[in-house]
Amino acid sequence: MSPQPTVPKVVRAAGPADGAPPSARAALQVVAGRDSPGLHGAGASSPPAFRFEGVHKTFRSKDGSEVVALHDVSFGVARGEFVTVVGPSGCGKSTLLRILAGLERASRGTVELAGRRHAGPSRDIGVVFQAPVLLPWRNVLDNVLVPAQIQGRDARVARERAMHYLQLVGLAGFETKYPGELSGGMQQRVGIARALVNDPLLLLMDEPFGALDAMTRESMNVELLKLRERTGATIMLVTHSIPEAVFLGDRVVVMSPRPGRVTQVIDVDLPATRTLDLINTERFGSHVSRIRTNLNATGGLD
Ligand SMILES: Nc1ncnc2c1ncn2[C@@H]1O[C@H](COP(=O)(O)OP(=O)(O)OP(=O)(O)O)[C@@H](O)[C@H]1O
Ligand SMILES: [Mg+2]
Repeated sequence: MSPQPTVPKVVRAAGPADGAPPSARAALQVVAGRDSPGLHGAGASSPPAFRFEGVHKTFRSKDGSEVVALHDVSFGVARGEFVTVVGPSGCGKSTLLRILAGLERASRGTVELAGRRHAGPSRDIGVVFQAPVLLPWRNVLDNVLVPAQIQGRDARVARERAMHYLQLVGLAGFETKYPGELSGGMQQRVGIARALVNDPLLLLMDEPFGALDAMTRESMNVELLKLRERTGATIMLVTHSIPEAVFLGDRVVVMSPRPGRVTQVIDVDLPATRTLDLINTERFGSHVSRIRTNLNATGGLD
């Protein structure tokens, strides 16, 4: 392994973002965030990993009109819990996730992270965006290493972790390729490896598997559950797929069409260790149809 150059921390922090488009800068803003002390250390009486309370979000569009994206959203998620969010296009799922990532501010209401008022991006939060946000001039390995470099982590350890996660997402052998040489699904997998490289305590995933073929998507689902078991991370994953929401979630948050409200929170009483054959069980099917009925009733499946 070639020795890593010793670069002053300040140079590392500025380097990867140079010339990055706004979306990439947003990603880097997240990975360069502060520590969130409350997310470390458990306890029986520890507060939820995060909590939305009466969150509203209104956007002012360029034409001057207002778009109400979220209306009175309240729910909390325990540490180590895997919550999935499902709802129709435009109902505010990405907005909710971006508020939790510290990239948007709620217009009203509060967001707490481990019992503390949420105040901007945190290095304990890993984010996988709906579209992969990779730096085209960096190869796959160097893209995955961006968060670790910004935070000045040990280069050798970071590289080992990056290689490990690249293998996990099925990209071993592609380390020296550039984003432009990858398919959309492969680029998205680089984004997933990058979000994992620092072992985030809170992992936010915005339709991470939407661009993957059905088979890769299923195996990524299984891998994600294994990863969750190994890391104990709290995960919030947004998806359009009701079966995916049920397969992955301890609970499924169902949202109405815009303005997004939470219409139902379903406890998924399936075994903690989940395998794909569960998808064919009656219990799995009854969860899926319950959510479908709810979405139908609110016009979410129109
Ligand atoms: N920066 C913005 N400025 C103005 N309107 C916005 C902005 N971001 C989101 N919106 C609006 O807020 C609403 C919710 O958007 P959001 O991206 O959160 O939906 P979504 O549920 O993630 O949809 P999809 O499933 O298609 O990704 C939409 O009507 C969208 O047009
Ligand atoms: Mg979205």
